[in-house]
Amino acid sequence: MYTNPQERSSNPHFSSTSETDPSAMQLESFPLSKNSYRNCFKTMGENKAADLLRYGKSKEGCISLAQGEGTRPTPDFICEAVHKALTDGKTFYSFGAGLPELRQEISNYYSRIYNVQVPTNRITVTSSGTNAVHYALLSILEEGDEVVAVTPIWKNLIGITELAGGVISEFPMQQTQEGWTLDLDRLFESCSASTKALLIVTPNNPTGWTMSGHDIKRVSEFARERGIWIIADEVYGRCVHDLERAPSFLDYACAEDRLYVINSFSKSWAMTGWRLGWLVGPADAEDKIRDLILYENMGPPTFTQVGGIEALRHGEEFLVNQKALWMENLELVIERLHRIPGLQVVRPNAAFYAFIRVEGDVDSYHLAKEIIDDAGLSLAPGAAFGKGFGQYLRLCFAVERDVLSKALDRLDEYFSARLASLES
Ligand SMILES: Cc1ncc(COP(=O)(O)O)c(C=O)c1O
Repeated sequence: MYTNPQERSSNPHFSSTSETDPSAMQLESFPLSKNSYRNCFKTMGENKAADLLRYGKSKEGCISLAQGEGTRPTPDFICEAVHKALTDGKTFYSFGAGLPELRQEISNYYSRIYNVQVPTNRITVTSSGTNAVHYALLSILEEGDEVVAVTPIWKNLIGITELAGGVISEFPMQQTQEGWTLDLDRLFESCSASTKALLIVTPNNPTGWTMSGHDIKRVSEFARERGIWIIADEVYGRCVHDLERAPSFLDYACAEDRLYVINSFSKSWAMTGWRLGWLVGPADAEDKIRDLILYENMGPPTFTQVGGIEALRHGEEFLVNQKALWMENLELVIERLHRIPGLQVVRPNAAFYAFIRVEGDVDSYHLAKEIIDDAGLSLAPGAAFGKGFGQYLRLCFAVERDVLSKALDRLDEYFSARLASLES
């Protein structure tokens, strides 16, 4: 409750910037009691990775390869279409589930690129991939439902699940000489009667691991038999280095499956700031998701959706060029990292991250902070991607070559100095 001006003047939580003007009173730090907010904030805990990201950005001259986005802006042809949409007055409320033209375009895109027929009533346009995961989970989770998440996983997906009332059970992949592997038998064993959903990111952030069609089929059959939902985050589905696209859960889906597939414009078309994505779900989910949208934000802006239509219609060339940059950069990353003693990396075949294992007794938060301070390079700490990944650092290589090269020099220097000090 706010106090009146007289009370304020005697309240130590308020201060006045002007003795003569009480309207200039400022509300200072006024901690509410711990129980004022939802319990989930206690379990969602602190986000040290986000703190570190901000810390790195605040340091002058620090190169940031910590965030999951490139340095190239959205291509002109998309921006120009949106500019026209704005001048044409496309500034009104959209349809809850998205512009019919965009839903149709997404359906066409699945037919053209995936050879899968997805009717428009299964497609909802959302305000980002993140938002799509949120709707998917909100539509199925009751408080306390278990969600088995294959890790390492982008941290926000864990937070979103907790926000929706779910309880995460982490199931880790293993790093081997051949690459990252997921033991499906053990994954299935880890699902209990209280498992409501499986959360799988393929291609994966941060490892670049991509689930094979064979494994997708097995997971789909298992989930179908057990009545478990699958939440498949496929936002990197087009970011596969040597293929047009990754295998999708939609390739093996039956019409009645409890399946949500998440997608986004962010990664493939450099549209991270647009907050535009989509969700494919069962036919009867449409009205549930529509309700969620209605009470959340009434859908993404009309004009950004015009940008989405443009990206799907004309964005293939841009994507091919992006992939060429990522693949060239990947070669440089692998070559340089293999020469740095104490670092190991498995060559990813999708996305634009190197998930680097650091030998020894490592706390990735501490290490990432030290690399910012000593080397002027910001990387994401592995611990943010799930339990058991505290020895890793994630490096995003979707940046211009000269920036990457400089960053790798800094990393090399840092680890050489670290090795020398460990040996002395
Ligand atoms: C696996 C995964 N899903 C979703 C997102 C977010 O996508 P969007 O920008 O559409 O919210 C990210 C971003 O890094 C991600 O890594």
